[in-house]
Amino acid sequence: MFITFEGIDGSGKSTQARLLAEALHAEGHVVRATREPGGSPGAEEIRRLVLEGDPDRWSAESELLLFTAARRDHLERTINPALAAGEVVICDRFADSTRMYQGLSRGDLRATVDALHQMMIGREPDLTFLIDIDPAVGLGRALGRKGHEERFEDFGLPMQEKMRAGFLALAKEFAPRFRVIDGDRAPEAVAADVTAIARAALEARG
Ligand code: ADP
Ligand code: TYD
Repeated sequence: MFITFEGIDGSGKSTQARLLAEALHAEGHVVRATREPGGSPGAEEIRRLVLEGDPDRWSAESELLLFTAARRDHLERTINPALAAGEVVICDRFADSTRMYQGLSRGDLRATVDALHQMMIGREPDLTFLIDIDPAVGLGRALGRKGHEERFEDFGLPMQEKMRAGFLALAKEFAPRFRVIDGDRAPEAVAADVTAIARAALEARG
């Protein structure tokens, strides 16, 4: 089973992905926790190219190609082999992030994103948690742990608001696999909801 976490910067995706991995591991599942951009040695190298340096280093189109190249490598070398071995793959961000950030943030590139996804990736998660949060709260949390990576949070609150609305629309577009979770609660309360939903989905698959 392939589970992803999505949401704006600072929504708590990484925290929740880790807590879910711990919970499912404790229940006897073999779990592969991974992230994007990254998750394989080649994709981690590409991560540095897209998240470090001058924010205007790449055009929107070349950035899309880099994220897609990273995803293809991650899929070939990490995700697909783990799924084939029967592991539960938990990924912090996946193609929905590209639909949002490359598809929406600098003009409307969504059709190009979709075409490239269909040609080069062609896989959706089985279950996606959208950790939904007030953009101001998310931005405050994200800036609080600021490191050396140039992130989209640097574009400020209006961008975060646009991304939040976009993610909620995406959850409607792909309703069968999306679950929207209120992220503005204690991490343990959010994790209890997430774990219950994932557990039920795993049981339903047998
Ligand atoms: P993301 O991966 O979505 O950017 P993180 O999980 O890295 O989010 O969380 C961003 C920051 O907010 C971290 O410092 C984390 O410890 C903190 N955090 C995560 N979840 C919560 C929560 N439910 N309430 C308060 N702070 C949180
Ligand atoms: P991430 O490390 O998940 O950041 P955060 O913990 O702040 O949410 O992701 C880094 C940045 O990469 C984030 O700003 C979103 C961006 N991103 C894209 O623009 N496109 C993509 O396809 C992915 C996976 C991430």
